[in-house]
Amino acid sequence: MTDYALETRGLTRRFGGLTAVDDVAIQCRRGSVHAVIGPNGAGKSTLVNLLAGALPPTSGRVYLDGDDVTGLRADRLSRLGIGRTFQKTNVFLPFTVFENCRLAAQSRLSTSMRFVKPAARYAEVNAAAERALAAVGLESRAGNAVAKLSHGEQRQVDRDGASQRSAGSVAR
Ligand SMILES: Nc1ncnc2c1ncn2[C@@H]1O[C@H](COP(=O)(O)OP(=O)(O)O)[C@@H](O)[C@H]1O
Ligand SMILES: [Mg+2]
Repeated sequence: MTDYALETRGLTRRFGGLTAVDDVAIQCRRGSVHAVIGPNGAGKSTLVNLLAGALPPTSGRVYLDGDDVTGLRADRLSRLGIGRTFQKTNVFLPFTVFENCRLAAQSRLSTSMRFVKPAARYAEVNAAAERALAAVGLESRAGNAVAKLSHGEQRQVDRDGASQRSAGSVAR
């Protein structure tokens, strides 16, 4: 197995005559934390869009755990382990903290075509949502409406959802 959870080689994205991401090589080891910094227009968002499958690269490759995932769509990449949050917080405001986490976990089930069984009865989904809440220390807020949380806590719920939607949280 490769040393790198995420790697790019020669990653390039052009918009007409403008090269927004130019021959980028990234190597991220498992368990490490990285930041991309740069002025407005430097190409940070375009880079993230390429990594998360929101945009296809003009050239170059993206590898996830050593597998070439270049050009895969965002939903496929999400299932393979790429979680993403946006500048704008994405949570379901009318729902509780727990329900938000449960929805994210539920999206990992192999099918969403079960209309009869109530969502709350999926034990493995509930367990994944509880694990995610514990990981970010929001257990005591589980029953609160997300709308009542502080901005910072809403961001935590959002991040929670993104990490759960990526692979591995719910047995499939
Ligand atoms: N969809 C697009 N079409 C055309 N040009 C784009 C598009 N997205 C980004 N750009 C251009 O690519 C460059 C990098 O933008 P961006 O990745 O948003 O930078 P950053 O996130 O670092 O501020 C900018 O010049 C921007 O105008
Ligand atoms: Mg940006």
